[in-house]
Amino acid sequence: MSIETPPVCDYEGSDYRTRFWEGQGRDYEDRVERVALRRLMPPTGSTLIEIGAGFGRLADEYRGYEKVVLFDYSRSLLREAQAHLGDDPRFVYVAGNWYQMPFVAGLFETLVQIRTLHHAADAPALFRQLARIARPDGQYILEFANKQNLKAILRYALRRQEWSPFSSEPVEFVALNFDFHPRWIRQQLRQVQFAPGRMLTVSHFRFEPLKKRLPTSLLARLDSMAQLTGNWWQLSPSVFVCSAHPAVGETAVPHTFFACPHCQTPLGEVKNGRLHCPNSACQKQWQVEDGLYDFKEPVS
Ligand SMILES: C[S@@+](CC[C@H](N)C(=O)[O-])C[C@H]1O[C@@H](n2cnc3c(N)ncnc32)[C@H](O)[C@@H]1O
Repeated sequence: MSIETPPVCDYEGSDYRTRFWEGQGRDYEDRVERVALRRLMPPTGSTLIEIGAGFGRLADEYRGYEKVVLFDYSRSLLREAQAHLGDDPRFVYVAGNWYQMPFVAGLFETLVQIRTLHHAADAPALFRQLARIARPDGQYILEFANKQNLKAILRYALRRQEWSPFSSEPVEFVALNFDFHPRWIRQQLRQVQFAPGRMLTVSHFRFEPLKKRLPTSLLARLDSMAQLTGNWWQLSPSVFVCSAHPAVGETAVPHTFFACPHCQTPLGEVKNGRLHCPNSACQKQWQVEDGLYDFKEPVS
């Protein structure tokens, strides 16, 4: 029996890498996101997970970590990441749904989520999962699409847009694509005991005429400076926030890692290409093939 979860924006078989990034004039966005990430993420550590890692665009930023989980719903994008990163044993490729994270509690020191929250129909449910798998004192670096951005404010003022950029609730502007208000994000993070701290505003100059006329390096430098005002006001299309998990709480038992996404029982070693849930009431099995741990659907 499968458990009901909110709808998922499915990138299986998608050409996201070539359609959206490679040669698509988004070097500026890529650069400024890396600047923000480096400012907020502890540069070294033991365990890091990127939630919605896609084809591993940002994976080279995690070289200071001993174990890096690239987690995504799309097996095909994870296979692209694997092909690109080669045999580096620090990377672990895990397919699954962020509403049912297949990890033991208190595992990750650093959690990173960039350009994916806009697909979360139930962000509070996702945050509950992340709070469960974060270690005491862990850091969660989240990027989200900001509904209170300058363009939305202008469109609203000119009556070209019905929804208010100032109201707290998320807006679904296209099916399964949401913009969020920074105030609402902070509230929801606090609900699950994350303490939202430093905010950076990012991609201030995401405007085609500017990007065409000015050198990317200049725009990136200007954005890098503007990011620092993020704690005071947030009018950019993209916002990064770093939240700390409480210092006291559950830490993963050494040598445990995966947990059954259905019943959360810790899983043991891989046997014959499968992970077996030892809970007699569950007994689900999960496939492990060519280095990809697959928790999307049980194999039996
Ligand atoms: C726009 S892409 C961003 C990829 C990557 N973070 C980047 O910036 O290049 C959004 C990613 O979120 C993933 N995603 C969407 N819903 C998900 C879910 N419920 N569980 C896990 N991943 C999900 C998609 O498969 C996709 O790879």
